[in-house]
Amino acid sequence: MEKFIIQGNTRLVGEVEIIGAKNAAVAILPATLLINGITTLENVPNISDVKIICTILTALGAVVTWNNEHTVVVDTRHLNSANAPLEMTSKFRASYYLLGALLGRRGNAEVGLPGGCNLGARPIDQHIKGFEALGATIIDEQGKINASAKKLIGSPIYFDVVSVGATINLILASVLAEGTTVLNNVAKEPHIVDLANFLTSVGADIRGAGTDTIKINGVSELSGNHTYSIVPDQIETGTFMIAALASKGDILIKNCIYEHMDSLSAKIIEMGGKIENLGDSMRVSCDRELQATNIKTLPYPGFPTDLQPQIAVALSIANGTSIINENIWSSRFQYTSELNKMGAKITAQGTTAIIEGVNKLIGAPLYATDLRAGAALLIASIIADGSSELYNIHYIDRGYEHIEDKFRKLGAKIERIDKE
Ligand code: UD1
Repeated sequence: MEKFIIQGNTRLVGEVEIIGAKNAAVAILPATLLINGITTLENVPNISDVKIICTILTALGAVVTWNNEHTVVVDTRHLNSANAPLEMTSKFRASYYLLGALLGRRGNAEVGLPGGCNLGARPIDQHIKGFEALGATIIDEQGKINASAKKLIGSPIYFDVVSVGATINLILASVLAEGTTVLNNVAKEPHIVDLANFLTSVGADIRGAGTDTIKINGVSELSGNHTYSIVPDQIETGTFMIAALASKGDILIKNCIYEHMDSLSAKIIEMGGKIENLGDSMRVSCDRELQATNIKTLPYPGFPTDLQPQIAVALSIANGTSIINENIWSSRFQYTSELNKMGAKITAQGTTAIIEGVNKLIGAPLYATDLRAGAALLIASIIADGSSELYNIHYIDRGYEHIEDKFRKLGAKIERIDKE
């Protein structure tokens, strides 16, 4: 078990490079199972969730080779299993994508129930309803899900809730199905568009990704020997944008997509920050007192729930009272008690948090409660007076690559050490 020791009071200044999106990579890697061939993926984040998915692909018979730190080659010509064991799938949430991908390629899948951050109830009823509409039989037994179909047949599917996971899983299951699938009330996140772009580049017929309705005309096979570069990470970009704001710093964020950040940019400007669009990079700075604002998390293009803990850090030192309404996850305020240890004044009840701004945060021993909460507490430690110790950093490593190196280059004083 490792921990970070952080000496605070740092204004973050300098440049940071954004890597490919975690949530795109954990969908596109399973999507390679639909191809009978070799796929090269570039700009792949070297994070623990991705490493676990590569281990699972190997267990299914794929040959996975890292050509360099960010390029993965997946050879799926000789798959020999459709069984993704619980000890692997329970380590991360996106393991449920193996269901859609294996069902699409092999007509059957046995996948241990997914793990991931504890953000409250995380049902997968919409995934199952979608698979059944395509003709699959789903059996949920003792910690694993068994899915099988003689033949998947395209169908109209209306999702009761907007779900990133269900949208991706049904795209995966239907690209090789017979006939046309129409997915209604889908999620529109950048990583959904990226998955559709990847699958289209290997021969799938997918239209409408990024809108409320996606139409998929099944094709008989997808072609190998393609190279695809994963979209820049929207959430890593947002984490550094908020770090610039909260530290009243000045950060040039390279290899990012400005348009994916509109909901956050609007809030940063309301709070007193400045943003310059420089094409494939942006500069975020702040040279004045932060002002309170209200945040409501929503599916894309609304404010992302995965940036809610980070923006709470900036709000905790803003002038005035802010309100956050969390509309996606029922238990996403666990980190607020850690921020309160640092002198923040946050009252969280149910899905609402009320934040009364304070002048400064003070370093403390802190426990990351999940991935994005961990990133938020790291930002809080960097800007706080005094030093902090941050435990449970394995959560942060699930989704951020070399996060301490990136913050160190911006001036932060962070040490990663083995917990004694
Ligand atoms: C994905 C992201 C996660 C992010 C979330 C919302 C990945 C690997 N994870 O998670 O980081 O926080 O989107 O942007 O991409 N729901 C149902 N039934 C279902 C599926 C979902 O009721 O079958 C509900 C959930 O309880 C939640 C909401 O729909 O309230 C959104 O969940 P969903 O978009 O599916 O989240 P994930 O795909 O798990």
